[in-house]
Amino acid sequence: MFLCLLLLTVIATGQAQKVPGQLKNDSCVCKINSSIWTFPAARFIEVTAQVLTQNVELPKVKANLKNITARLKRFEYLQTSGLYNALHLRQLNQELQIIQHAISETHMDNPKEAQHFLDEVSQAKHDVEKMYKDDTFNLETMKKRLRNLNNRVQTSRTVPNDFRSSCHQRIITNISSPIVTKLNSFSKSYISGAWGQDASLTSNQIYWEHCLVSGNKHGNTIRFYKLYEDFMGNKNYKDEPIAPSYSDKNAVQGSGTILYDNTVFYQCYSKAEICSFNITTKTTKRINLDGAGIDNKFPFCYYSCRDWTDIDLEADQDAVWVIYATEENHGNIVLSRLDPVELNITHTWKTHLFKRSVTSTFMVCGVLYATRYVNTYKEEVFYAFDTVTGQEINTLSVPFEKVAAGIANLNYNPVDRKLYMYNDAYLLAYDTFF
Ligand SMILES: *[C@@H]1O[C@H](CO)[C@@H](O)[C@H](O)[C@H]1NC(C)=O
Ligand SMILES: *[C@@H]1O[C@H](CO)[C@@H](O)[C@H](O)[C@H]1NC(C)=O
Ligand SMILES: *[C@@H]1O[C@H](CO)[C@@H](O)[C@H](O)[C@H]1NC(C)=O
Ligand SMILES: *[C@@H]1O[C@H](CO)[C@@H](O)[C@H](O)[C@H]1NC(C)=O
Ligand SMILES: *[C@@H]1O[C@H](CO)[C@@H](O)[C@H](O)[C@H]1NC(C)=O
Ligand SMILES: *[C@@H]1O[C@H](CO)[C@@H](O)[C@H](O)[C@H]1NC(C)=O
Repeated sequence: MFLCLLLLTVIATGQAQKVPGQLKNDSCVCKINSSIWTFPAARFIEVTAQVLTQNVELPKVKANLKNITARLKRFEYLQTSGLYNALHLRQLNQELQIIQHAISETHMDNPKEAQHFLDEVSQAKHDVEKMYKDDTFNLETMKKRLRNLNNRVQTSRTVPNDFRSSCHQRIITNISSPIVTKLNSFSKSYISGAWGQDASLTSNQIYWEHCLVSGNKHGNTIRFYKLYEDFMGNKNYKDEPIAPSYSDKNAVQGSGTILYDNTVFYQCYSKAEICSFNITTKTTKRINLDGAGIDNKFPFCYYSCRDWTDIDLEADQDAVWVIYATEENHGNIVLSRLDPVELNITHTWKTHLFKRSVTSTFMVCGVLYATRYVNTYKEEVFYAFDTVTGQEINTLSVPFEKVAAGIANLNYNPVDRKLYMYNDAYLLAYDTFF
């Protein structure tokens, strides 16, 4: 009896396996470790085998290889019919369908660009089908390709002109020292909420203040001041109800609230939905936010997690923006643009920025900015995502001062170009420079 050696190489992965065997009756009999065929699985066609023996007749070796092929077919079957792959392929197909839908809407403005995208989607579809057939694929690479394609399609869809040109300006370069510092008008124990001025150019410039009660989680009123002096002096304010109580289905959850066009935009009580309450008409609208993590699934964290910050609303000149994260995007930030009046989502971009690695975000002219904690008294803008170009910048370093460690809300006001922060129980404002 002689020893023999079978060398198996999986072409797709470059993995090789040496299998010692025994020469019996002019055959090399080997036991093959099937773990070489674990994900990503390769078809046996893509495996080369070489039997190293002495004085063995070639036909016998060939016959044995055939035998091995037959036996490995079963492994291949198990691999391709595995639930894991099928599920993910289905998700990829769904994503492709969404992109295709988005392109069909784009078609009207720029047929040439749309055709280009359609070609790319059709190539991607072909590749996904090939994955089904061959069971050799890199899920991550494909997902990345689709994310990139999706962002480019979103960017090229119809958007108001000033969204793209006049206001899409340079990246933020500096933030002043706080020009307003004041405790909220309720209590030092109200460490979560939001404040600012109406972000719409056509609205009256009024200050608003919204504090969360019930474990810093819910709220149902918003306080207005017509004058800066009144705001600073906690007087002549008006409390507007958003919902009958803080446990009502239309109550506010979390500190992502924003005021635009005399309308409060916020996360609806205990739901992955956005609510809008128009103070002029006293009407509430809601819209579902597909896949958004809520209830501290994807809060803002960085240094320590801030409860009930899963969904952050922002506003610029002519749109309301919502910042959230989904499992589908691996907990990374997803950015959707809302039509404020219809309250429907017009665009959605997916970033590579892990939401839990950020303390807060704000939007300026279609550019998303993210900040991180430096220390109790210092915060830093470190990231920007430009929805006009789809570009991500990770290398910013624009520091600004705080009076306490935690940030419940940060929002930029396009009218007065100031940044508003709810810093534990303190209300701060800053000038910005571009
Ligand atoms: C080897 O071949 C002989 C005769 O062909 C047979 O009797 C024997 O069982 C074989 N041994 C093995 C291990 O296959
Ligand atoms: C099969 O190979 C894997 C890694 O290549 C190894 O971890 C495992 O122990 C092997 N199993 C057997 C039964 O040799
Ligand atoms: C392959 O070899 C195994 C054991 O060596 C044997 O039981 C089986 O019948 C063979 N299959 C074919 C298709 O030759
Ligand atoms: C940025 O703002 C800070 C605070 O107002 C100021 O001290 C600093 O000089 C500014 N830096 C630049 C480069 O303008
Ligand atoms: C709020 O209602 C007023 C009055 O109907 C309307 O003019 C305004 O556009 C509404 N705003 C939003 C954001 O729905
Ligand atoms: C938003 O809603 C309006 C009115 O319901 C509709 O005409 C429009 O097509 C919607 N837009 C999107 C992007 O769904």
